[in-house]
Amino acid sequence: MSILITGGAGYIGSHTCVELLNLGYEVIVLDNLSNSKEESIRRVENITGKKIKFYKIDLLDRENLEKVFMENKIDAVIHFAGFKSVGESVKVPLRYYHNNITGTIILCDVMQKYCVKKLIFSSSATVYGNVEKVPISEDSPLSATNPYGRTKLFIEEILRDLYNSDKEWSIALLRYFNPIGAHESGLIGEDPSGVPNNLMPYITQVAVGKLHELKVFGNDYDTHDGTGVRDFIHVVDLAKGHVKALNKVMVSTGIDAYNLGTGKGYSVLDLVHTFEKVTGKKVPYTIVKRRPGDVAKCFADPTKANKELKWYAERDLEDMCLDAWRWQSNNPNGYE
Ligand code: WQD
Repeated sequence: MSILITGGAGYIGSHTCVELLNLGYEVIVLDNLSNSKEESIRRVENITGKKIKFYKIDLLDRENLEKVFMENKIDAVIHFAGFKSVGESVKVPLRYYHNNITGTIILCDVMQKYCVKKLIFSSSATVYGNVEKVPISEDSPLSATNPYGRTKLFIEEILRDLYNSDKEWSIALLRYFNPIGAHESGLIGEDPSGVPNNLMPYITQVAVGKLHELKVFGNDYDTHDGTGVRDFIHVVDLAKGHVKALNKVMVSTGIDAYNLGTGKGYSVLDLVHTFEKVTGKKVPYTIVKRRPGDVAKCFADPTKANKELKWYAERDLEDMCLDAWRWQSNNPNGYE
């Protein structure tokens, strides 16, 4: 079976390629390398001993996108490609709407033309907005609080309309919580461009000496230690969740959303202390004021994915810290 992975050179995409290749799937990666490096694909081939067919293509380039469907028999698509910085999306919303939404529409239109109607979409817990109640289930109210989150929300609605117009589609909307960690080989991992926005890459860059100290955004939240609580999930568990979702979409039609989280909430300082404990590396930090838009607590109720996808997160916070550190310490400058 042959799977097209858009954004397959990225953090979650590359980890998903490893899982699929190890299971014997043919993998075709389409990536414009705007926020990733082709080296990650070489590393995935190294880990698995398998070849990847790679196309350096932008989803907005319909002519070359069609060529991929003409040249390959594609059974399903896992769609990761998209801009993903919350902060940047506030500054350049039109770029985010055009890139993420128009790109997805062109992809789905070409899929329909070539009768490929099995799709897994990389959504995000950000579609839940400022949650009132935790843990969060899939029927919690949806409301994005930034243009990036709105692209995810709008695309989910577009895909529902697409399914309602053609019931042959089979679509899984995977809502990720906070993916961290790396493959146990230390060969692939998170490689943010510039200063990391997210917590774990910031921690590992402080530990490896690239950054001076961590700024903890607020310790006056209504949580056990005052710092933000999140559902950190190992990126390999997340990748395995995509394989389980693929199994489902291949034998059914319909559209369903699934939370991919552990169901456990840990605070910023829980993560810092766990990282220091398992790696022996100090992470100096200072408490600064809250980051606008942050919520106090966000963690998943993963029972729907557990039951319907037969998927369970297996790796704990110590695994996530150890694996993230192995990647960062082996690759202080990422894939450069
Ligand atoms: C986690 C916690 C911060 C950095 C974001 C996106 C979401 C998804 C995952 C794409 C919060 C604190 C962070 C730092 C800190 N991405 N923090 N110092 O905001 O939960 O989710 O990434 O889908 O859409 O919103 O993740 O890692 O940025 O923050 O104190 O330097 O760490 O306040 O409590 P977040 P994060």
